[in-house]
Amino acid sequence: MCAAKSTGGIDLGLEGRVALVTGAGAGIGREIARWLARAGCPVAVNDIDPQRATETARALLAEGARAIPVVADVRSEDQVSAMIGECRDTLGSLDIAVNNVGMNANRPLTPFVELDAAHWRDVVEQNLIATALCCVAEARAMLEQSSGGVILNVSSGETTRPSPQLVPYGAAKAGINHLTQSMAAELGPQGIRVLAMAPGTTVTEKVREVMGEDHLASIAASNPLRRMTEPEELGRMAVFLASDLARCVTGQFVLADAGAHLSRSRPDHGDA
Ligand SMILES: NC(=O)c1ccc[n+]([C@@H]2O[C@H](COP(=O)([O-])OP(=O)(O)OC[C@H]3O[C@@H](n4cnc5c(N)ncnc54)[C@H](O)[C@@H]3O)[C@@H](O)[C@H]2O)c1
Repeated sequence: MCAAKSTGGIDLGLEGRVALVTGAGAGIGREIARWLARAGCPVAVNDIDPQRATETARALLAEGARAIPVVADVRSEDQVSAMIGECRDTLGSLDIAVNNVGMNANRPLTPFVELDAAHWRDVVEQNLIATALCCVAEARAMLEQSSGGVILNVSSGETTRPSPQLVPYGAAKAGINHLTQSMAAELGPQGIRVLAMAPGTTVTEKVREVMGEDHLASIAASNPLRRMTEPEELGRMAVFLASDLARCVTGQFVLADAGAHLSRSRPDHGDA
């Protein structure tokens, strides 16, 4: 699908720009990959799960996009390096990188005084360290190409307020916000923009399964917009931030949380 068709004739400057999306086999990452493909990007679809990566890539191909699955665990420096190599060898470059992997799902809400080192290491590795490893390898590739680029990290609305019982997750995501700002300052002179998008509770398949309809309805009712964020809306936002429409925006943390950060009281949100 060409950019003009999908955007009412506005040139986003994304046609042919190669994108990599990590954790794109499900949820938010899958929609980001889909919307970047719709805006004209060839997309490298990363996931740790080969079947998920292949299914998303097939779905994009079926919509007429160029897409390849790239299986890698982004917690591993070697696998991250191989992932970027595969993207550049097969699709020709790396122009837009979306670091979407990160989660809390395997960890139930935990009182602060019950946290142990294994818990801290696991959550910080899945969120902050995996993102940082990807950022380093992506920035190196973009500097080598000398044609600028965009790195978009997925943070969380949890970083705008205290996260009781989710402290390692909130702290690791807050680290991503700072990483984003610092990278933006350091890499800006080379034409690399670095941004973070911060979803509020987003209705993915997994969130629906883990949180249940009643809990989701109570969160929606407490949000100023009286709704939650849909994965597709994050896909559209990623297109905007990666596009030339946002070409003077860098080092920013952009919330997409239906106004949750404005609520005075709220039910437990908690990300997937
Ligand atoms: N869903 C929410 O409510 C919500 C809210 C705020 C922030 N977020 C953030 O958005 C991002 C995506 O969340 P989601 O809810 O879409 O997750 P999800 O669990 O639905 O999908 C994550 C995908 O990443 C893959 N993955 C997991 N570990 C990986 C690894 N080490 N290497 C490569 N792939 C890996 C999984 O196989 C899966 O396909 C995360 O960073 C999450 O913290 C989500």
